[in-house]
Amino acid sequence: MKSELTIFNELVDELLKLEKSEPVVKLGAPEGMKDKFDIAVSDEPMSEDDFKAVLGNVVLNTPRTASRSFFNQLFGGRNPVATLGELLSVMLNISMYTYKVGGPHVGIETELVQQICSRIGFPIEESGGTFAPGGSMSNFMSVIIARDAYDPEIKNMGVSKRLIIYTSKESHYSIAKNATFAGIGRENVRYLPVNEKGKMKTEDLELLIDQDKKMGLHPFLINATAATTVLGSYDDIDTLGDIAKRYGLWLHVDGAYGGCVIFSEKHRHLVKGIEKCDSFTINPHKMLSTPLSCSIFVTKHKQQLVESFSQDASYLYQGDDDYNLGKTSLQCGRRNDAFKLWALWKSVGTKGLEKMVNQLFYLADVARDYVSNHPDYKLYSFEESTAVCFNYKDIPSKDVCSALADHGALMVGHGSFGDQNFVRLVTVNSSLTENDILNFFKHFEKFTEEYYF
Ligand SMILES: Cc1ncc(COP(=O)(O)O)c(C=O)c1O
Repeated sequence: MKSELTIFNELVDELLKLEKSEPVVKLGAPEGMKDKFDIAVSDEPMSEDDFKAVLGNVVLNTPRTASRSFFNQLFGGRNPVATLGELLSVMLNISMYTYKVGGPHVGIETELVQQICSRIGFPIEESGGTFAPGGSMSNFMSVIIARDAYDPEIKNMGVSKRLIIYTSKESHYSIAKNATFAGIGRENVRYLPVNEKGKMKTEDLELLIDQDKKMGLHPFLINATAATTVLGSYDDIDTLGDIAKRYGLWLHVDGAYGGCVIFSEKHRHLVKGIEKCDSFTINPHKMLSTPLSCSIFVTKHKQQLVESFSQDASYLYQGDDDYNLGKTSLQCGRRNDAFKLWALWKSVGTKGLEKMVNQLFYLADVARDYVSNHPDYKLYSFEESTAVCFNYKDIPSKDVCSALADHGALMVGHGSFGDQNFVRLVTVNSSLTENDILNFFKHFEKFTEEYYF
């Protein structure tokens, strides 16, 4: 292993240098990838030197998501302590299903789940949760658990009634996929309209539920989004919590993107009423820059989590089930996604997590101020969103984003809301500074001057 670790250190050294000197990789067309990277595997072994060269070529030409020019997705950056935790997890290579093979990591995962439940305001004794392989899968767990809570027989007999989910038009696409996976069906997802800020309009929700009930359908789940993928809007959880209670529906909050505001005194009001929800998704791999993936599903109905996800397997579950985390998980073998978050949390404390979250909102303020004070820009975003959406001199957003990446200038994505398309700059890397944001605009304008005018 020592020689592999030497290779690792050499490659990482080079990568870190390149992230500074050439923050954006010129990827080239996907069709050329196979040859450029010598991707095909063969029957014969390789010489050590050739192997190192091939590895280096791939690693050093992979998109650089931790660079200071990456604003493309809802993850980015590389928190050093969380990365250390992740690297150690890889070395330990445990599976999180039992105490017997997970050891102290079982306690670590449980501690994190409890901490998050208590920050939400869930009663600790009745609450539980697990790490899932991403926000989409955490949301999937919400559909399963809400479905089983509505009708426990579905677990045994399958779905035989039309169950209905309510979510907003701007909610994540995993909601529709999960409806298919759970046997609910895409047609049984009702999309509520949103206001001009992308927030779900709740006025008509009760009417819709009443109509569905009258038609003999079975409303069972409301999905609130905190925050929406494109505009970064927070649905009104407080009101949705009241409606869910009135109708006896499960309220899930998809906080994959913006749920980490629970760590910030300043921004926590965005999820006002969060304690009313039945379950919650939170993705530290987005706002807290822990390496992918790090997503947590929590619920205030721990017993229901057990009902929905436990299955006996006598070859595996031999000790006390309180410490057999596989009994509340989607998976059997499961990687350790808890250690990296724990390492980060342990080292910086909750106050450090709060600072990280606040920094993201601050960086977004810097970007929004810049855009709104510059006449060549049009802003589509609003206060307290970490997705800053804009257009510049009427240049088509899709076009400019591709050109920026192709020429190794910047990595930034584009999105749409209604019939408007725009560049979408997201602030998810809290190690960035005001200067990095101003540099983004400097490079953006310089590039567009040279490329378009
Ligand atoms: C609101 C929302 N929910 C869920 C997800 C899915 O999370 P993941 O990419 O971890 O599956 C995303 C991803 O961007 C998101 O923005």
